[in-house]
Amino acid sequence: MFKRVPGTKDILPEEVLSWQTIETIARRIFSVYNYQEIRTPIIEDAALFNRTLGEATEIVQKQMFIIRNQDDNYALRPEGTASIVRCYLENSLDKAAGFVKLYYIGPMFRLERPQKGRLRQFHHIGCEAIGSGEPSVDVEIISLAGQLLKNLGITGYKIKLNSLGCLKDKQELGSTLKEKLQKKSNQLCPDCRDRMKNNVLRVLDCKNEACREIVKELSPAGGHLCPECLQHFDKVKEGLNNLNIEFEVSCQLVRGLDYYNRTVFEITHPDLGSQDAIGAGGRYSNLVKELGGPQIEGIGFAFGIERLFLAKTNLTEKPDKKLIYLVTLGDAAKIAGVKILNRLREAKIPADMDYLNKSLKGAMRAANDAGASKVLILGDDELKKNIISIKDMSDSSQKEISLENLTGELKC
Ligand code: HAM
Repeated sequence: MFKRVPGTKDILPEEVLSWQTIETIARRIFSVYNYQEIRTPIIEDAALFNRTLGEATEIVQKQMFIIRNQDDNYALRPEGTASIVRCYLENSLDKAAGFVKLYYIGPMFRLERPQKGRLRQFHHIGCEAIGSGEPSVDVEIISLAGQLLKNLGITGYKIKLNSLGCLKDKQELGSTLKEKLQKKSNQLCPDCRDRMKNNVLRVLDCKNEACREIVKELSPAGGHLCPECLQHFDKVKEGLNNLNIEFEVSCQLVRGLDYYNRTVFEITHPDLGSQDAIGAGGRYSNLVKELGGPQIEGIGFAFGIERLFLAKTNLTEKPDKKLIYLVTLGDAAKIAGVKILNRLREAKIPADMDYLNKSLKGAMRAANDAGASKVLILGDDELKKNIISIKDMSDSSQKEISLENLTGELKC
């Protein structure tokens, strides 16, 4: 028997209800904040991610699912931001509107070692606001992330915030760090020794205890920010305080994707274990230009849907199920039953019937398992009299009504 690929999940019908609930709530909140949905392909030119996420990042180095196709390399998208910016430019959205606010929901792929909260196919709910560098947009984005969690009933999370500064600040921070770490490089974990060569900022948020200790001592504490970036960061913090949004400034937060500068943030939850980020995001000041567009800034975030479930398992809003289940007894009733079922469905009444020729008892059990609110019982005798029995599953009461009145009765 075939098994699913490691790090992927089947989402069974009873779980799908919770997924639909999350998606519905997310769409509602995005719409309240005036974000519009956008859908981009799951496959993209692999070079898009090499260029934007960074050649030296873990995702590009180790985690991309690559599809080789003659002269082209395609990648299953590992994240949404690069695709959205590609789509924004390809469809000239920058020319159509000065500022666009987009959201997306869909699968992402990373070839990681699977563990709790870390999958190879996972799902993002994310958004991007492209076209403004205003700190008030950073505040809106973080406030929107908080509203989403609030509406999903997720509490107990922590928002960690940092500013990486502009490109120049980031480069300077990188060189200072490299210099300071040089003396201690033999105490770093093997991954961080690699990072020292090609992605030194990532040493700052390494999870290894020894690396954390070393980093703690040389924490940059925002000292690397130029006056403009410092002012931008101050305004973001001020705006969040103004909305009473709690956050914690974390100088170690650098994020694993190269396109970020200025504001970065991560939302962690204690129920998640070692992979404790339910969502993360930040500002990208050069990404649009990097992909051939104008010097326009953007900011966004993405939540991992599977991790939202780890933070709160019961996300199902009780569905208002009004299924009618038809049980027929006898050959004539069966033929007539198909027509009755069709009539109900045409009247938009959710309806189903027993297709396994079960006994009355078995069919009633099937109706109960299907969550039917009412069961219609039609035998050949009832058919002759042009009537049908309706059993209300909530109180087991039963009555007979004429077949002509059935649709009207069920609609009330
Ligand atoms: P990211 O931090 O790579 O950011 O992913 C965002 C969230 O996706 C993580 O916080 C986590 O909840 C979830 N996630 C990531 N990898 C996995 C995995 N292997 N299994 C399960 N969940 C996972 C981004 O992708 C950025 N594009 C976010 C962004 C949008 N920044 C600006 N705009």
